[in-house]
Parts: sequence; C-alpha cells; structure tokens
Amino acid sequence: MIGKNIQKAAELIQKGEVIGIPTETVYGLAGNALNAQVVAKIFAIKKRPTFDPLIVHISDLRQVELLSKPRLPESFYILARHFWPGPLTLVVKKSDLIPDIVTSGLDTVGIRMPAHPMTQQLLRLCGLPLAAPSANPFGYISPVTAEHVARQLGDQIPYILDGGRCQIGLESTIVDCTVTPVRILRKGGISVEKIAEALGYSPEVQTHSTDNPKAPGMLSSHYAPRKKLILTDKENVFEQYKYDAHVAFIRYQAPKERPFEQRILTTDNSDAQAAMNLFYYLRELDELPNIHLIIAEKAPNHGLGPAINDRLQRAASEIL
Ligand code: TXA
Ligand code: MG
Repeated sequence: MIGKNIQKAAELIQKGEVIGIPTETVYGLAGNALNAQVVAKIFAIKKRPTFDPLIVHISDLRQVELLSKPRLPESFYILARHFWPGPLTLVVKKSDLIPDIVTSGLDTVGIRMPAHPMTQQLLRLCGLPLAAPSANPFGYISPVTAEHVARQLGDQIPYILDGGRCQIGLESTIVDCTVTPVRILRKGGISVEKIAEALGYSPEVQTHSTDNPKAPGMLSSHYAPRKKLILTDKENVFEQYKYDAHVAFIRYQAPKERPFEQRILTTDNSDAQAAMNLFYYLRELDELPNIHLIIAEKAPNHGLGPAINDRLQRAASEIL
C-alpha cells in the first residue's frame, strides 16, 4: 500500500516490518538497523547477496557516536558539517550496536543523514537508525517514485511512504573516512569537486571494484535495465538509428528533433536536472513494449556528469 502516513510508517518500523521510504536520492527499503532479523528480511526481499553491505540512515548527529567507534576522524566532521543532511554516505568504524549482517561482516559502516523532510520526521518518530538499500530488486534501476517501488516490491512489503519524486535522483556519494586521504567509493549526488572543496584537497577516487570490494555494491553490471543499452558520445551512432522506431534515445541536452522516442536529460544544461531525470527516463523507456534498444549519450565530465556516466556505464551492454 502507498500512502503519506508517517505515523503509520514509524509504527510499522517499530514492529519490525520492512517498508519503502522516500529519500532525496532514491527510494529505500527500510527497517530497524539494530535488529539482525529485520535486516535479514531486507536482504531477502531485495534478493541481495549478503556480501553487499547496507547504509544506515540517521536524523541526529549524536546517533553517529553510538553507531561508530571513537574517535571519529576529522574528515568525518568536515564532510558531515558541509553536506548533511544530504546525498552523502560516510564510512566510519562501526560499533558493536550494529549487527554484522548490516555491514556484511566489515568492521566499518556507511552512515547517511537524508534530507527528505518526511524521512527525517519518520526517523525522529520511530527513534531508530534505519538500514536501507535502494528499494529495487538487486541489479535493477533504483526507484525514484513510490510507484516504482510498488510495481516491483509492493506485494512483499506492507507500506510505501510516498514522498513524491526524488529530487536528486542518483544514489548518495560514498566516502570512506577511515583512510587518510579519504577515498570516494561511489560517485553520487554530491560531485567530487564539491567534496574536494570542502576537504581542501582532492580525494582518491576508487570506485572500480569489480568483484570483491570495499564497496561491494559496485559490481560492474548494476542499475541495469532489462533492455540492451548502448552508451556513446558519437553523433554518428545516433544518426545511424535515427529512423528506427524500435530504438529510443536518451540525450544529455537539447538535441535534434526525432520522430521516435527520445528523452532529454536537461533542457537548461543543468547536471542536477539531468541526474534527477536519469533513472526516471531509463525506467520509462525500459517499460515501453515496442522499444528493443536504448542509446544513451554520455554526460559532460564534470559536476554530477561522472556519476551519471557511472550509472550509464553499469547499465550499458556496449560502450561505443
Ligand atoms: O542514496 C543512497 O545511498 C540510497 C538511499 C536509499 O539512501 N541507498 C543506497 O543503498 O544506494 P544501496 O544499498 O543500494 O547501496 C549501498 C552501497 C553498497 O552497495 C556498498 O557499495 C556501500 O553502499 N557500502 C555500504 N556500507 C559500506 C561499507 N561499510 N564500506 C564500503 N561500502 C559500503
Ligand atoms: Mg542500490
């Protein structure tokens, strides 16, 4: 069931249920992070391998002290101060309060304070940290509306809290604060440039772990539509398929007219707008019955562009 009743959502969480929640990045599949059985249920519903750790969501900075081991690194405080609440997950050493299943046995935990007002209220009402992966079946495109969640997981969860369309539209950026200099483990809703600016140095970016990993969710085929997707920056590829009615285009910005399916990620050259539209359009095109192939254009390589390209690369079966 989809609804906007935060009180009901909080009660379900307290009872040990797993529910869909909105965040500013993507929808999450949330449950009490302190209860191993609840967390096991999250893995089962998502069909997620247990080697892929979950992010823990909080609403108050003081919760971090309970969930982590002292002392928190300076980089944690700098980044939390700059970007929380917001699309940033910070990896720190975990305390014993967090069951091992949450972190897939790692001695670290990824923590995020989401900015979505309904989720903040939910977190305060239920008084618990929430473990929440993106609310999609493992390997599929992350959901950015409550309906997306309902269509795929609706029959397995009692409630989906509807917070409208996600405004960031890309998962959080993940930064490992347990190392110096810090390391970016996943590109996401906050650009590498912004993180560098806050820190006063350029962090290492290490997002390419293919099979084992510090960010195990970063398997190379992830966020994938069911349909074949080609990622390219070559205009002649678009030219070649221009009149093929079974091929849909995702263009970065205002392109040439096309008589068939085409989605434009941004109309005013805004990386934030492009990010917000990416998963929404990918799903839309993936669900069109007469489309056999999606061709997507690479985003420019700055701001949120690299995060957009990262998701498109993982969705692509071919890069031209
Ligand atoms: O924006 C987001 O982060 C969304 C919303 C719901 O908050 N959540 C999300 O969760 O994208 P998920 O489960 O789809 O991706 C979480 C990823 C894992 O796959 C893993 O790569 C990384 O976070 N992660 C979690 N804990 C970690 C840890 N202790 N060390 C390294 N990476 C970790
Ligand atoms: Mg995910």
